[in-house]
Amino acid sequence: MSASKNIKPAKITKICCIGAGYVGGPTMSVIAKMCPEITVTIVDINKEKIAQWNGDDLDNLPIFENGLKEIITERRGKNLFFSTDIDQAIKDAQMIFISVNTPTKTYGQGKGMAADLKYIELCARQIATVATSDKIVVEKSTIPVRTAQTIKQILDNTSSDFKFQILSNPEFLSEGTAIKDLMNPDRVLIGGEQSKAGEEAIEALAAIYSRWISQEKIIRTNVWSSELSKLTANAFLAQRISSINAMSALCEKTGANIEEVSLAIGMDSRIGSKFLQASVGFGGSCFQKDILNLVYISQTLGLPEVAHYWENVLIINDYQKTRFAQNIISTLFNTVSSKKITFLGWAFKKETNDTRESAAIYVAWELLQDQADIHVYDPKVTVDQISRDLKLVSKGLFNGNEGQGTITIHKEPYSATYDAHAIAILTEWDEFKTYNWQKIYDQMKKPAFLFDGRNILDRKQLDTIGFQTYQIGK
Ligand code: NAD
Ligand code: UGA
Repeated sequence: MSASKNIKPAKITKICCIGAGYVGGPTMSVIAKMCPEITVTIVDINKEKIAQWNGDDLDNLPIFENGLKEIITERRGKNLFFSTDIDQAIKDAQMIFISVNTPTKTYGQGKGMAADLKYIELCARQIATVATSDKIVVEKSTIPVRTAQTIKQILDNTSSDFKFQILSNPEFLSEGTAIKDLMNPDRVLIGGEQSKAGEEAIEALAAIYSRWISQEKIIRTNVWSSELSKLTANAFLAQRISSINAMSALCEKTGANIEEVSLAIGMDSRIGSKFLQASVGFGGSCFQKDILNLVYISQTLGLPEVAHYWENVLIINDYQKTRFAQNIISTLFNTVSSKKITFLGWAFKKETNDTRESAAIYVAWELLQDQADIHVYDPKVTVDQISRDLKLVSKGLFNGNEGQGTITIHKEPYSATYDAHAIAILTEWDEFKTYNWQKIYDQMKKPAFLFDGRNILDRKQLDTIGFQTYQIGK
């Protein structure tokens, strides 16, 4: 679908975004920065979060992203606002982005697999109830294919006075590089209804992105292709990680080196070199939930082979996390009971404070079953967040069997590693490479075991110091 010449889109001057999270916060901040003539209001039901976004302490924003606080300093109070007055923001805006969470359902039909669309539905009902003019509603959240139809049904049946156009505009940013990704995306995808009104809505949104993104990068499709492309992109990305992680297990049995294999295959331009970093397993709020959702959709549409195919990406990911934990236990003479095991890193990747579905949580759980005394240090994750994650563990998310180990959280790495039996690297933070590893070795119990779940440390240097080092796929 390409832009028609005789379409005259409405000029957008007021935007509302429902959901002030990892997507809503950065995406809207960048729109506010690049379009100073547009007033952007981000709203949320979470009062604490909005207070943090509005707070004076810019080191205490709800999320950490490089470059974000500079944009907030520049635009907040000028054309960027954070508010809990959702009704007013909806009324004022011509265009409303929905950026609320779409987690995996934890109850009823589709439990553990389907996306829970209750927050999306609530937004649609609220928009329909309070709108006092026509609106363009933009799905920014990741949702199952054909969700736009649900939103449209709710809007059209709740409010008969005004016209609503639904666009799909999925977000492809990665946490840790959100601002960079938003400023210079590989592409922007806009799906809309194939009608004159649909095209006008698409072009109104395209005009916003055109302020800093070239036309060739703005793809226009039908709504269903756009919705499905988002799930497909995440499934393909996760699949690459599971593929390389599956190979890492084979490397460990054969003497091949996964980094050499990654390099060799990545230089094939058809394969490409990105996303071939073997690891302790992927985490993050989206890969698992989006693939589960894809599996569920495939199953319910009577496509079990497709469902089974994608399910294996998750099976390998779980295998990789378990394999890492089991290797720690078996290497430490088949038990970690009452042994100090230090985790360096808790976030699901570097440069973010997000811990959702982090591999660290799963590895911790496995070791706690074996009664380990786990000590954690992460440069950005707060003590409170780690405690919350562990409470979820002990609340029975994992069948209620949390073992009898202990967890201690540290504010710096040297106390965390003092007298430890073993260190496990769970996140690839750059600062880990700069530590005084001789000092850490000297203060550890011997033999000093080091399990590098991210392959970030210099193995030769560690071996020379005296560590017994284990890396992934080597
Ligand atoms: P998040 O949990 O960080 O933020 C969602 C926010 O929506 C929360 O602050 C919540 O309080 C708010 N909210 C929920 N229901 C609401 C309602 N009815 N009214 C007002 N506010 C409401 O989630 P996120 O990580 O920003 O993800 C949002 C969506 O974007 C998801 O669908 C996710 O799959 C998708 N996505 C996320 C990323 C990412 O990197 N996190 C990237 C691309 C796409
Ligand atoms: C991912 C996608 O990359 C984004 O395009 C997408 O918008 C987003 O999900 C989403 O929909 O939420 P994100 O989860 O923020 O972004 O981070 P990634 O960089 O993709 O990393 C995900 C996980 O895979 C991390 O745990 C990371 O450490 C791991 N990973 C990544 C590897 O183990 N190996 C790699 O080679 C790359």
